[in-house]
Amino acid sequence: MPQGNVRPQDMQRITTPALAERFITEQIAELRQQIGTGKVLLALSGGVDSSVVAALLIRAVGKQLVCVHVNHGLLRKGEPEQVISVFRGQLDANLIYVDAVDRFLDKLAGVSDPEKKRKIIGDEFIRVFEEEARKLEGISFLAQGTIYPDILESKDGIKAHHNVGGLPEDMNFTLVEPVKLLFKDEVRMVGKALGLPDNMVYRQPFPGPGLGVRCVGAITRDRLEAVRESDAILREEFAAAGLEGKVWQYFTVVPDIKSTGIRDNKRTWDWPVILRAVNSIDATSASVEEIPYALFGRITSRILKEVKGVNRVLYDLSPKPVATIEWE
Ligand code: XMP
Repeated sequence: MPQGNVRPQDMQRITTPALAERFITEQIAELRQQIGTGKVLLALSGGVDSSVVAALLIRAVGKQLVCVHVNHGLLRKGEPEQVISVFRGQLDANLIYVDAVDRFLDKLAGVSDPEKKRKIIGDEFIRVFEEEARKLEGISFLAQGTIYPDILESKDGIKAHHNVGGLPEDMNFTLVEPVKLLFKDEVRMVGKALGLPDNMVYRQPFPGPGLGVRCVGAITRDRLEAVRESDAILREEFAAAGLEGKVWQYFTVVPDIKSTGIRDNKRTWDWPVILRAVNSIDATSASVEEIPYALFGRITSRILKEVKGVNRVLYDLSPKPVATIEWE
């Protein structure tokens, strides 16, 4: 595996399980050489990139890797549980689970500006991670799930590198970035070869601020719960209809508005759930998925029956542009 931040012209694309195995074998040898008997820290979100890096490092250095999973309360239903069951249960990882839900939601209370919400979530994440890192002793390496598009985009100045940096300079860690020259499809191929579950390896894109940007405006716990529960129903019904892995990104949004409804002969004053399902190649533009009417019917009746505080279900028909994919 070449060093540096430039993918060599002749580097073979990892398109088969055999090529993924070869990459894994090479990486394990290199990681062992780089890390020696040192300890490595990794923020494990449960997303594809950090999960693949964790699984690689567990193979290479086992318990010398310390994974920290921060639950900020904005993850999808079942995600923190899956991180614990896969990494602690199946892979026997050294995993620290941090329940920071109250901390994040308290900081976000009353904040309605989307960019302020993003900043609070990002800053608080670094603070929690730093606190955990300071509790540990003898860590000399920081592993990150940087992938090649991150490097290309930060070089072009399109976005600040979302992984690098953030931790204070006195925390003098050496970076370990084993998948930094890989494209997303290659990372998935490697993850599959490492035995990670399909719903982790092939998961749809999920924003760093999580469900926080889908609970439009100031986040409240009850409305956030409506986002999480309706999202879980949408995902279940899409999977049952064979759409999982076929539609690029789909989720629900609960805006901070209410309308009149009727339930058990009584007037209600509840939120709408907005369904969004789009197809895209690189998220710069997106078209709306044509959903069969019967599927709409199943999703709607489940949401109206199962999600508290909701009395309407709507579908967002807007392509990007003019709309963006997320509502915030
Ligand atoms: P938009 O809403 O800009 O989204 O059309 C394009 C893609 O980016 C994801 N997204 C984010 N990802 N942090 C992230 O890591 C963010 O703050 C963020 N905002 C949007 C979005 O889910 C879509 O895939």
